Amino acid sequence: MESLKGKTAIVTGASRGIGKAIAVKLAELGANLVLNYRSDSKSVEDVIKEIESKGSKAIAVQGDVSIFSDAENIVKKAVEVFGSLDILINNAGITKDGLVLRMKEEDFDKVIDVNLKGAFNCIRHAAPVMVKQKGGKIVNISSVVGVTGNAGQINYSAAKAGIIGVTKSAARELASRGINVNAVAPGFIQTDMTEVLSDKVKESTLNSIPLKRFGSAQDIANMVAFLVSPSADYITGQVINVDGGMVM
Ligand code: NAI
Repeated sequence: MESLKGKTAIVTGASRGIGKAIAVKLAELGANLVLNYRSDSKSVEDVIKEIESKGSKAIAVQGDVSIFSDAENIVKKAVEVFGSLDILINNAGITKDGLVLRMKEEDFDKVIDVNLKGAFNCIRHAAPVMVKQKGGKIVNISSVVGVTGNAGQINYSAAKAGIIGVTKSAARELASRGINVNAVAPGFIQTDMTEVLSDKVKESTLNSIPLKRFGSAQDIANMVAFLVSPSADYITGQVINVDGGMVM
């Protein structure tokens, strides 16, 4: 994979799971990392140590991506400390599952606020910096359920479908400025988020995956590393499924 030496990358929700794997991967390729986290400062310190042991630099910036001014601060810190912002990975996400007949209004709003508005907030603040620098790469983490829908996830699948709209609109607006915007739609990835699901759900999901295994955070990090590299300069506005063939 091509070197990202000298590039600065923000990863939101980088304290664990897919965000952590993406951050470590980009650091292995030489990028300086800005690790956004919401509350788990201990875990994010461990991620910093792991990145530093690979010879790259990382800082942690606390912030809730659903808050406009927090997103502004994450971008500001990146530019202050590393002098540029080349890569933004909108990874932070939550689930609050429930059937539509029972879902509470606040559970709908919260999931939209973090997953969808959070991505907008970060792009809104990062894009002007990238425009000034005449280039950048943005990757938004969507989900296969944003494409297919999913019973019990009306809030989450709406947010993840929304991310696809955000990706395509931003890609169209920012292409002339040398900024590529793409989305990755993971299938079922083994992380804390999916650990809580019942064995029954896990088993029936596994049966729907042609490659017959759950994905790893590494599988997603590999695709993100490609999309932010010069090899992907001619790719924008795309949604790439990384799902073992679950959706095709
Ligand atoms: P996770 O729950 O392990 O990690 C999510 C991270 O986001 C955590 O570090 C959490 O602290 C952070 N976060 C949550 N709310 C935040 C906020 N308001 N501000 C800043 N950070 C916040 O989940 P996982 O599995 O690593 O998911 C990462 C992304 O991938 C999410 O967007 C998720 O929706 C998406 N995804 C995951 C799939 C899976 O099977 N695990 C499948 C499809 C998409």
